Amino acid sequence: MGSKEWSVHNPEGNKRVIVTKDLPGKRWLEILVQAGCKVEICTSSDILTAADIKAAIGNSCDGAIGQLTEEWGEELFAALARAGGKAYSNYAVGFNNIDVDAATKHRIPVGNTPGVLTETTAQMAVALTFAAARRVNEAERFLLAGKYKGWLPTLFLGNLLWRKTLGVIGAGRIGATYAQMMVEGHKMNLIYFDPYPKKELEDYFTRYSEFLASQGIAPVTCKRVETVEDLLKDADCVSIHTILDDATRHLINKQRLALMKKDAILVNTSRGPVIDESALVEHCRVNPDFKVGLDVFEDEPELKPGLGDLDNVVKVPHIASATSWTRQGMANLAASNVAAILMGHPAWQKPDISSFLEGAPPQAAPSILNAKELGISIYDG
Ligand code: DGY
Repeated sequence: MGSKEWSVHNPEGNKRVIVTKDLPGKRWLEILVQAGCKVEICTSSDILTAADIKAAIGNSCDGAIGQLTEEWGEELFAALARAGGKAYSNYAVGFNNIDVDAATKHRIPVGNTPGVLTETTAQMAVALTFAAARRVNEAERFLLAGKYKGWLPTLFLGNLLWRKTLGVIGAGRIGATYAQMMVEGHKMNLIYFDPYPKKELEDYFTRYSEFLASQGIAPVTCKRVETVEDLLKDADCVSIHTILDDATRHLINKQRLALMKKDAILVNTSRGPVIDESALVEHCRVNPDFKVGLDVFEDEPELKPGLGDLDNVVKVPHIASATSWTRQGMANLAASNVAAILMGHPAWQKPDISSFLEGAPPQAAPSILNAKELGISIYDG
């Protein structure tokens, strides 16, 4: 089992499932126990190495729930398959830490947890946007250092985003929800960059503008741009919501940062390596009016040299999805993925996963990334 501590639940269960971190809530464990699983949970907060996980998999393991901090590739999927494993779920919606092809090769279905992070993550992107725009953390440090000697007309001047231009990179569920929060709350004009046109989002803002006009309020606009460069040049605030893959690694680099307005705001709640963090440190040093909000980092949990010293960068430790509701929902979805596959149930394919969150869930795995490749049938209830 390796050197880490593990707790065992339902020891008489006939399918062994390992869970590499304790998860919030109780329901997820009930889901696995009801499916006849013996559940072994790593109670250490240390990030597990591949060797730790292989030791935990051992000779006999039916399924696993892993974390975004673990690289699940050939080595671990081969070990899981050798141990008789038939199911894996990531405890995350993002799956850049998973080699899905390797899992498919070993005939292991891979689950993730979409649909419960959307509003929570968008909310954190909004929080970082305004913490950066209004210099909240910098001002708090100033106050607590005893430097506040009285109100001043020039103390901590920040950016007003009202009616400015918002740029969203990646207008999927989270990006679109962030855009709605920002545009509706602050009457911003939206430009977005996404490989696919988002007609639903565009139609939404057309209807929203008609509503504004009916109230005698000036409308807003929503436009897809052809290139990231077009977006970076025009936006007063840019928020990144893309996945991490070969095409988006270092999407924001030195050259592209140089295109941005000197006092723009840049927010990242997607994955750290989408930004060249060393180039960002340099850019923020020479452009003190440029402001940044980061939830994710290129070499998590490390920060690139100099990042920690910059007052114009607000930093939080990858907590964008950290609300109790979301983290419990993620746990329920991850457990349902593993339990359903171990019971031979089909895969759910609808974007709305709310029926898995309470009451009697559908007899299906909520989100299996390689269902098609593995020929898993689709739930038709
Ligand atoms: C995810 O699920 O991908 C998030 O990054 C977790 O916060």
